[in-house]
Amino acid sequence: MTDISETLSNLLSENRHFFPPVELAINANAKIESYQEADEDRLRFWAKQARRLQWASNWTQVLDWTDAPFARWFVDGKLNVAVNCVDRHVTAGNGDRVAYHWEGETGETRTITYADLLREVSKTANALLELGIGEGDRVAIYLPMIPEAVFALLACARIGAVTSVIFGGFSSEALRSRIIDASAKLVITSDGQYRRGKALPLKDAVDEAVEQTPSIEHVLVVRRTGGEVAWNARDLWWHDVVERQSTVHTAKAFDAEHPLFILYTSGTTGTPKGILHTTGGYLVQAAYTHHAVFDLKPETDVYWCTADIGWVTGHTYVVYGPLANGATSVLYEGTPDTPHRGRWWEIVEKYRVSLFYTAPTAIRACMKWGDEHPDRFDLSSLRILGSVGEPINPEAWMWYREVIGHDRCPIVDTWWQTETGAIMISPLPGVTTCKPGSAMRPLPGIGAAILDEQGKRVGRGHGGYLVLTEPWPSMLRGIWGDEERFRNGYWSRFPGKYFAGDGAKWDDEGAIWLLGRVDDVMNISGHRISTTEVEHALVSHPAVAEAAVVSSSDPLTGQAIVAFVILRSGFEDGDDMATMLRAHVVHEIGPIAKPRQIMVVPELPKTRSGKIMRRLLRDIAENRAIGDVTTLADPTIMNMIAQGLASGMPED
Ligand code: WT7
Repeated sequence: MTDISETLSNLLSENRHFFPPVELAINANAKIESYQEADEDRLRFWAKQARRLQWASNWTQVLDWTDAPFARWFVDGKLNVAVNCVDRHVTAGNGDRVAYHWEGETGETRTITYADLLREVSKTANALLELGIGEGDRVAIYLPMIPEAVFALLACARIGAVTSVIFGGFSSEALRSRIIDASAKLVITSDGQYRRGKALPLKDAVDEAVEQTPSIEHVLVVRRTGGEVAWNARDLWWHDVVERQSTVHTAKAFDAEHPLFILYTSGTTGTPKGILHTTGGYLVQAAYTHHAVFDLKPETDVYWCTADIGWVTGHTYVVYGPLANGATSVLYEGTPDTPHRGRWWEIVEKYRVSLFYTAPTAIRACMKWGDEHPDRFDLSSLRILGSVGEPINPEAWMWYREVIGHDRCPIVDTWWQTETGAIMISPLPGVTTCKPGSAMRPLPGIGAAILDEQGKRVGRGHGGYLVLTEPWPSMLRGIWGDEERFRNGYWSRFPGKYFAGDGAKWDDEGAIWLLGRVDDVMNISGHRISTTEVEHALVSHPAVAEAAVVSSSDPLTGQAIVAFVILRSGFEDGDDMATMLRAHVVHEIGPIAKPRQIMVVPELPKTRSGKIMRRLLRDIAENRAIGDVTTLADPTIMNMIAQGLASGMPED
């Protein structure tokens, strides 16, 4: 556990205030009254938001919390997610509205209207049915950011199948374990993907993974790069199976608590957990928050969330939220610096993007590349900027505001998690006076508190553990196949309250400042990786006897992974040892988990009971003076490790 007082003491006192632009405030979707309305009757507030959607049958009860922590929202209500995201906009006469301006990394484009989307999703749904996918079956999706990824998600939702998207940057090993955990029947993938101008293979990883996944019946392959692929009996081309299907599919409605998706995320142990989300409550909060936080005016706004669909942000704010609201979005396949460092801003200019949502790590990268890149493009269409994934440092916040937003656009710093399904703490752009670096306050209808060690609420000026005090519509409904982990991981630290794993502080004016994780979960470029996961990957290498992983702060990625390893006898620390071990972690988990530094050490600092003292390792990783070592079994170890460091440990 990170010492929370340590983080607290680093908190800046921030006195700058930024008011909402007058015009935005006047025309805002969400006004100040919504806080009061939700406070007076929270469930009524959520019932009102639920009417944004089209229900096939009405709910009989807004929330059933008798089986806490397993919530049922909109009990007995029935709806179809795909119908809400697609069909009803066509029915309302908006079939010609663009749902996505897709921009390929190589410069190709594809314009997909809501009418196009309906045809594509219907064809895909029919194809899935032909492949024997039925209600409740799990479908693994391992795709780059191409339109077929959206079609696949919505087609599954349409027929009641449950998606498990695995980020294309995860390794075959990570894919395999997730397929097995969910017993997926089908994988949808592509031959390859474009990354920084190069066509890279993707299906190879699937081939490797499905050799050991008996539940998989078929692999459906989208042709993206045209690269060569090995072909097996279970493989089918998307263009063979989907293209010949009927463009008509009659959707049925599913129960509000029908499972919609599983998304794996890291917890404090070595095994990722499959966070389960369901249909009605999830879509209600996705739609409401997208409407309120981004102030979407569907007729005029062009919205762009840069997240990959492999993360929850991609689910809620690239697919479900914006489509439920009938938005026009940009869907971009590539990276911000390909083929040049102004690529994002070029896209903003091209499509006249007005609402832009990205992550602090990307903002810091753009900041480092220099103002000249955004300055070359016309960014005058922008009206609201969003941030998500990690605390945004005030410096990056100010740069975002000034250089991208030209001092005109409010910044919504949105705090939430895979588990919460949708935004929980954020400014409302037409209401909130923002401070650089603060997520400000819980949204209407959301209850949050900050507790001390004893579970007592702390007041203004104090910090502690962030908890959610009331159930919310898009809350996780559990961890796939692991009820105990769900109860223990989230609901036992402070009974009756959801413990988020983050530290937070109220400032003197009642604004919330997020202080990062207080458990063994790291946040690398806004991606969650547990220290144990990386340790498991390291010790699975024959050269490694023991490993301890900590995070160190990093100017670009927020946190970076630093690993300390003890080698097995017979192995020596040579020039390529660190390189080899880093490659091994990439193979086991994926490039996002690649340690920035690997230090080969003779010993690890342990307490007399054998527990690794990560606090001391963090001191080394952060180049700080080493803290109290008196509880160490062998206090001289820290000197040995630190000396090794001074003599030039590898940092490649
Ligand atoms: C963790 C959740 C929510 C989608 C992306 C990440 C951190 C997220 C913020 C923010 C400070 C943030 C928290 C949280 N986090 N947004 N605005 N300010 N911290 O989803 O992978 O489930 O990670 O990301 O530590 O617990 P995730």
